[in-house]
Amino acid sequence: MTQDELKLAVAQAAIAYVPANCIVGVGTGSTANFFIDELGKIKKKICAAVASSEASAQRLKEHGIQVVSLNDIGSLSIYVDGADEITRHLHMIKGGGGALTREKIVAAASKKFICLCDSSKLVDVLGSFPLPLEVIPMASSYVARQMVLLGGQPKLREGFVTDNGNLILDVSGLKILNPIELETTINNITGVVTNGLFARRGADVLLLGTTSGVQTFTA
Ligand code: 5RP
Repeated sequence: MTQDELKLAVAQAAIAYVPANCIVGVGTGSTANFFIDELGKIKKKICAAVASSEASAQRLKEHGIQVVSLNDIGSLSIYVDGADEITRHLHMIKGGGGALTREKIVAAASKKFICLCDSSKLVDVLGSFPLPLEVIPMASSYVARQMVLLGGQPKLREGFVTDNGNLILDVSGLKILNPIELETTINNITGVVTNGLFARRGADVLLLGTTSGVQTFTA
């Protein structure tokens, strides 16, 4: 099976978690795109969606799914998104697509986070994938120096501006043994909007696409 076939399989499996008449929180990236396409097939069953990026909002609208603002609704029953790395504790690195801040907001407002991954994303220790940080532009050098002090090697994502008008630093070289603590430490650096560790609010369910089928992990 190709990686895309695994992503499609988990996207199809996620549809079973979508309650009738709900507003669905929708993530960003190639796996989330497969989910959006599946959601399009059951659009009459749902009321609307909240998108974690302009790109996902656009794709949802192309399927005829209404996109609403998080500020106009209460909490969401589910949020469905991919990840760049995930552990068996359902802690994640996210933000490869640069949408980490809105993803973290939608995840925080959702009762259940369903994470969709192909098997290459499951790791024992987070950190092989460079950790993305969304930073206020004037603080990028300062934040980069603070990350060096924490043992990381930060690199500015060239030519990329987030949906919120900020920059991304991708930090490699971090062996993340305590993701909850590091998430808080990095978020406390002035100028960091948020970082791509999703550990304080991890996933509730992981649907993992493997060559022998979709495996389900719960927190
Ligand atoms: C975007 C994300 C994505 O969920 C993450 O990068 C995984 O993307 P893909 O499904 O394309 O592998 O966090 O900001």
